[in-house]
Amino acid sequence: MSEQETPRMPLIGEKAPSFKAITTQGDIQFPEQYVGSWFILFSHPADFTHVSTSEIMTFASIEEELNKMNTKLVGVSVDGLYSHIAWLRTIKEKIEYKGMKNVEITFPLIEDITMNVSQKYGMLQPGESDTKAVRAVFVIDPKGIIRTILYYPLSMGRNFDEIVRIMQALQASDEFNVATPADWRPGDDVIVPTAESCGVAKERVESEEEGVTCYDWFFCTKKLDKETVMKAIYK
Ligand code: BEZ
Repeated sequence: MSEQETPRMPLIGEKAPSFKAITTQGDIQFPEQYVGSWFILFSHPADFTHVSTSEIMTFASIEEELNKMNTKLVGVSVDGLYSHIAWLRTIKEKIEYKGMKNVEITFPLIEDITMNVSQKYGMLQPGESDTKAVRAVFVIDPKGIIRTILYYPLSMGRNFDEIVRIMQALQASDEFNVATPADWRPGDDVIVPTAESCGVAKERVESEEEGVTCYDWFFCTKKLDKETVMKAIYK
């Protein structure tokens, strides 16, 4: 690749691009260091800004729940290490927001002054900003494969319920070999995989197999109770 060439955005199903970086928690080799865990790599546009402050505090507030789902957080922005350290210290010492105070950010925040990481992950989107990363979220599985990507503009804080729901849905899909319908939450019916439902759905519609509902030959759901899901994904 020539120096001018910008790497193309990584896509769902591809291996997470690898990089070495300096963070507030020491050096990391990504994603190799995280193999075996799920992890969320997210970018924020800039330290010491309002939306990003609300977000990083909210990331910290869901960290414990994510950790129970074997999921780790890693943040990145184009700021330097000392800016990150000063911002995180200010948050801990001074910011009280929506009942959150004394918030200590213990997950790594990558310094990306060279924009190496932001470029590799398609976080620099010049139509939105020439100098700052957009709000990206990359969900990467224990094999280092990208499983979900979200991008938000600079002006909009992310939806953290959705980030938790994504982790629940991806892990439930893997664990039970099912897909999840619109707005799925643990305890809702899940979708029987196409290969399975295609072959037998017609019979199912007729036989009304227990727990399975078919809306047509291509669309069958089955019950998956909340307790079973929660036990499988929260450790
Ligand atoms: C913010 O996080 O508040 C922000 C950062 C850069 C541009 C606009 C807003």
